[in-house]
Amino acid sequence: MNLGKAVNIEDLRRLARRRLPRILFDWIDGGAGDESALRQSIEAFAATRFVPRYLANITSCDLSRQLFNRTYDLPFGVAPVGYAGLFWPGGELAMVEAARRVNAPFILSNSAVATIEEIAAVSSEHTWFQLYPARDRAVTEDLIARAEAASFDALVLTVDLPVQAKRERDIRNQFSLPIRYSARNVLDGVAHPAWALQWLRQGGLPKMGAWAAYAGKGASAEKIAEYMRNQQYTPQSWADFERYRSLWKRKLVIKGLQHPDDAARALALGCDGLIVSNHGGRQFDRGPTPLASLPPIKRAVEGRAPVMIDGGVRRGADILAALAHGADFVFCGRAILYGVAAAGLPGALRGFDILADELKRTLGQIGLKRVADVSEDILSR
Ligand SMILES: Cc1cc2nc3c(=O)[nH]c(=O)nc-3n(C[C@H](O)[C@H](O)[C@H](O)COP(=O)(O)O)c2cc1C
Repeated sequence: MNLGKAVNIEDLRRLARRRLPRILFDWIDGGAGDESALRQSIEAFAATRFVPRYLANITSCDLSRQLFNRTYDLPFGVAPVGYAGLFWPGGELAMVEAARRVNAPFILSNSAVATIEEIAAVSSEHTWFQLYPARDRAVTEDLIARAEAASFDALVLTVDLPVQAKRERDIRNQFSLPIRYSARNVLDGVAHPAWALQWLRQGGLPKMGAWAAYAGKGASAEKIAEYMRNQQYTPQSWADFERYRSLWKRKLVIKGLQHPDDAARALALGCDGLIVSNHGGRQFDRGPTPLASLPPIKRAVEGRAPVMIDGGVRRGADILAALAHGADFVFCGRAILYGVAAAGLPGALRGFDILADELKRTLGQIGLKRVADVSEDILSR
């Protein structure tokens, strides 16, 4: 199968699995613990049923959605995913370019290979910056200042990593950055020559864009990766959140809260929006699915700020399910990343295309012409 023959996200996943060394594919694909949170997040969407309404004279379909004073052509965008540039050279640049072309938001991960400035040069209007606060406060403040200088619309603070997750595929594969050139990893690379050739051509491990500036002048990619690792998993408190709020003047979004009281507290402290998320099942295997957390959070927020969601979207109908349960916007991590890992920019565009096409067909089937008309009334209870 090639990209042109990929008819759904699962096909993109298969293409990514074929092209990537196992250690990298598993890092994208896997989840924490038994991977039950990962599975159940997907299943919760798949279990959502809609009641079709016919004779609705469907002639066109409008997928546009307003969010933070912008109108996007799609009600979904790209969630922050780390290390995309390891899977395809310029992986993050492919994602932001795809987002620009389809007019959807892209959240740049703090663990990206591309720099903040490289992404801004493609499109600052479509980019938000996701922050993993560093141990060194001056570094965190500088990252925020760089995102501000890049004119990104929003800062996304990811809060659901108080500890390092137990991801068993990664433990078994001995995944770490810098990647160790063990005999097993070298054989894994040799068995995936298309990826390995690109890897060698770009000079092996690329530098981690956001962190390179702080690891010391002329630091190698390996040193930068080590520096990044040592700076992450910084303990975070509400006081830290207040500090970021005072430093960042534009929209501030929290990603990863699942308790309604936490959502209410975030709003009281000046948060502008929430992404209800379980980190794609990668962090806490016994947490609720994002779809289950969404309605109580919506009630707590009482319309004061957009409530977005990510985690488990593999079909256009999943996006509709999220919107019908009250999400104001939807983000996709793996669905687009599989495409990037399979084929770079055309793969990212294919991911968008598949999801948008499925969403349109589902909307038409239930008799709606506009995403803006979606409500819980379409759900089959
Ligand atoms: C490979 C991978 C890397 C990720 N890296 C980050 C990251 O750097 N920052 C972050 O906030 N979330 C990260 N996430 C979580 C995503 O932003 C998002 O919450 C998750 O992918 C949603 O689930 P889905 O993949 O089922 O769409 C990552 C997810 C994946 C799959």
